[in-house]
Amino acid sequence: MLSPSNRSIVKATAPVLAEHGYAIIQRFYERLFQEHPDLRNLFNMRHQERGEQQRALAGAVLAYASHIDDLPALASAVERITHKHASLNVAPEQYPVVGENLLAAIKEVLGDAATADILGAWGEAYGQLADILVQAEAKLYDEVAARPGGWRGWRDFVVRHRRQESDVITSFFLEPEDGGELADFLPGQYVSVVVEVPRLGLRQIRQYSLSNAPNGRYYRISVKREDEGVAHEAGYVSNLLHDHVKLGDIVRITPPFGAFHVDMSAATPVVLLSGGVGLTPLVSMMKAVLRNTDREVVFVHGARNGRVHAMKERLQASADTNRRLTSIVFYESPTDEDIPGYDYDHAGRVDLRRISASVLKPDADYYVCGPIPFMRAQVDALGALGIPAARIHYEVFGTDVFDA
Ligand SMILES: Cc1cc2nc3c(=O)[nH]c(=O)nc-3n(C[C@H](O)[C@H](O)[C@H](O)COP(=O)(O)OP(=O)(O)OC[C@H]3O[C@@H](n4cnc5c(N)ncnc54)[C@H](O)[C@@H]3O)c2cc1C
Ligand code: HEM
Repeated sequence: MLSPSNRSIVKATAPVLAEHGYAIIQRFYERLFQEHPDLRNLFNMRHQERGEQQRALAGAVLAYASHIDDLPALASAVERITHKHASLNVAPEQYPVVGENLLAAIKEVLGDAATADILGAWGEAYGQLADILVQAEAKLYDEVAARPGGWRGWRDFVVRHRRQESDVITSFFLEPEDGGELADFLPGQYVSVVVEVPRLGLRQIRQYSLSNAPNGRYYRISVKREDEGVAHEAGYVSNLLHDHVKLGDIVRITPPFGAFHVDMSAATPVVLLSGGVGLTPLVSMMKAVLRNTDREVVFVHGARNGRVHAMKERLQASADTNRRLTSIVFYESPTDEDIPGYDYDHAGRVDLRRISASVLKPDADYYVCGPIPFMRAQVDALGALGIPAARIHYEVFGTDVFDA
């Protein structure tokens, strides 16, 4: 427990740290990577280039300081962080390394204002937060390793099939190379994939949601190729997976983790709202719920047009053959090849007001995944339609802090 005097110091100085938060975290990462260059293999170098992880870590430490009298309020943030850390194999012995560099960065940026008392208080506060995370992560590692077919750390998988799902999305079907059992997962969870990135001379890790329902034999991930844009270069890992990972190749992954998953014990309807590649965890949920429960499922999907509409035929076939599944498709810019009423139901972006009769189900849970603007629009629309926040669940495909 934090001593009362240190608690007061942390609360009193949190606004000063917030003011300099970005500079502190930037300096922290510079120091961390200078002293421990190997950690560049663990962190997402694109986030570093774009400053995203800086915001996430600074935000978490400051959120902790401002909730120091009410730590249970941080439970869902802690859950998300611990699942992400566990998926990345973050180890307890790395916490002091991060703590030392964080304190040194605070000292450097604040200069004389960072007195010994202030640094001592923040050191103790960091230690308390680290303890919470380390304990929660140890529990997760143990639980996942103890499951039948579970494991700890990296495991080699063989690519048994590759399937092009659209112009930009390819699925990889992965079976354990050791031929051993394969753990089930909660529909909505993800795995981490590690690859060598020659352009960086580093390994890089990315998360991919499992896009099939648990089946004891294989995992499926479905990866969107992140092309270069007008002002930016192509994504490191997704392009390597698309261009270089062939049938029979080995892919190393960590066990499934993630706090975004459907509650398989509930009996109420499930409404899935996906934009683009955000459909992956929701397809897993849809399959698992239809297969293992009697619940009704509404699957709403938004895509630019038919060319980038992944898994279209199979999703249509599921809706045609399963009366518990309602599928509603929006195309933002349909092409001449896209037939209204067959390929898609509505032109334009997903607009829940146009389909409120189909999506407003008593006691339904809503699962949202897609680009940030898509999610913001859907979460706002659900709120405006009177859906309580506790019934709305979402996954962000990045570290961007999405404040619903
Ligand atoms: C929980 C979770 C689940 C996920 N599930 C999936 C999934 O099922 N399928 C899937 O495809 N992805 C998924 N992702 C996203 C995935 O982890 C990767 O982030 C994605 O594949 C991009 O990685 P990359 O290395 O190819 O791109 P990065 O190199 O990380 O680049 C990211 C993006 O930034 C762009 N970029 C490059 N330079 C700049 C710049 N200067 N300014 C702005 N943008 C720039 C790139 O083109 C790319 O679009 C998930 C992420 C999370 C966190
Ligand atoms: C108290 C200490 C820590 C806090 C508060 C913290 C907080 C966070 C947060 C908020 C995220 C973003 C989660 C998301 O995806 O939403 C994150 C991701 C991450 N954390 Fe931590 N973290 C801590 C310690 C560590 C340690 C010790 C390591 C290992 C050296 C580590 C490595 C990572 C990595 C690699 C990511 C993935 C994001 C990226 O690479 O850009 N963290 N952490």
